Amino acid sequence: MRTLFKNIKELIQVRDNSVSFLSGTEMKELPTITNAFLLVENGIISNYGKMIDCPTISVDKTIDATGKMILPSWCDSHTHIVYAGNREGEFVDRIHGLSYEEIANKGGGILNSSKKLQEISEEALYQQSKIRLEEVIKLGTGAIEIKSGYGLTAEAELKMLRVIKRFKEHYPIPIKATFLGAHAVPDTYKTKKQAYLQMLVDEILPTIAKEKLADYIDIFCETGYFSVKDTAFILEAGKQYGLIPKIHVNQFNAIGGIKTGVNYNALSVDHLEIMHNDDIEILKNTQTMPVALPSCSYFLSIPYTPARKMIDAGLPIALASDYNPGSTPSGNMNFVVSTACIKMKMTPEEAINAATINGAYAMGLEKEVGSITVGKKANLILTKPINSYGFIPYSFGNHQIEKIYLNGKSW
Ligand code: NIG
Ligand code: FE
Repeated sequence: MRTLFKNIKELIQVRDNSVSFLSGTEMKELPTITNAFLLVENGIISNYGKMIDCPTISVDKTIDATGKMILPSWCDSHTHIVYAGNREGEFVDRIHGLSYEEIANKGGGILNSSKKLQEISEEALYQQSKIRLEEVIKLGTGAIEIKSGYGLTAEAELKMLRVIKRFKEHYPIPIKATFLGAHAVPDTYKTKKQAYLQMLVDEILPTIAKEKLADYIDIFCETGYFSVKDTAFILEAGKQYGLIPKIHVNQFNAIGGIKTGVNYNALSVDHLEIMHNDDIEILKNTQTMPVALPSCSYFLSIPYTPARKMIDAGLPIALASDYNPGSTPSGNMNFVVSTACIKMKMTPEEAINAATINGAYAMGLEKEVGSITVGKKANLILTKPINSYGFIPYSFGNHQIEKIYLNGKSW
């Protein structure tokens, strides 16, 4: 099956030589080709270039993109889209002045979602969650990471991971699964945190390994949740089963978790709303991707990750949604890209790089997606007619997507 996209006003994020990720000043460059063609064969990008160089070959389908742009789909490296029910009651509590932490302390928050998750069947969880997966695909997400972490019992954590596994089998986008059993200490282990962590290691990790239910391991390293020592404990245990760390860290407090993440070769450290200078120093010249989640900052009215300062210090940044029922009930990566520009002073080039190639790296998919490169999957966004790619973040609260292509096929 051969599909030719022709007369593309601008083909965005073109990388002849595949890069793993972009850091510092490299993020300012967004290579494009104006008046371009793009050829897809059997779902894979096989050729692209200027229209005048478009080969005259027979194709199965031709798509005329006059006035429109094409860019690689968004790569959302941090989500919690498998969950049960919603938490709009807590949203109203926050409007009335309670903080995220105060709500959690009175039994809301993650424990509220875990109660709902423990009660729901795997099938009902699949049905509720697939609505969100399909919603974000329509909004341009063409690769996604999904975490467990609302189960907090062996049975319920495995139920979440099995739903993610079924998504991997049934949807045409790359999906990565992360085990986040250490998301909160459940009430049944209230004064026995170490016993809870030991339960995760003894009762869940072996099944995850046996059934290949996760690619990554995560922990909420935060005051009132899990300490730096707990983080080292869980990352060490995950390592025994080949699980690479991607951790929640520095959301409300900087307690030293970034160093532990880097020591364990974390693929990413996520949130980073509170960053001390030494946290920035630790991340320099490492293979660990800092991931910012601006929709979470927006929804909770907490500080934004100091992306400008981090990029100016030479670091890479990836952008992700954090779609979850408590801190970010939205998986709209178009909004994420806009908010990164508006609130974090990232340029459109930096934000698009952060939400494509750097996002792909943050879930180990940089060889498959994240740029227009020969050999990569043709997971693409075809825009509406727009004047420039800067219009994508500029038109905040809206999106400029006309059509989504996954593996070269309209979705
Ligand atoms: O990434 N911060 C920790 N976990 C989630 C929110 C969890 C929840 O409130 O349900 C996050 O923001
Ligand atoms: Fe999260």
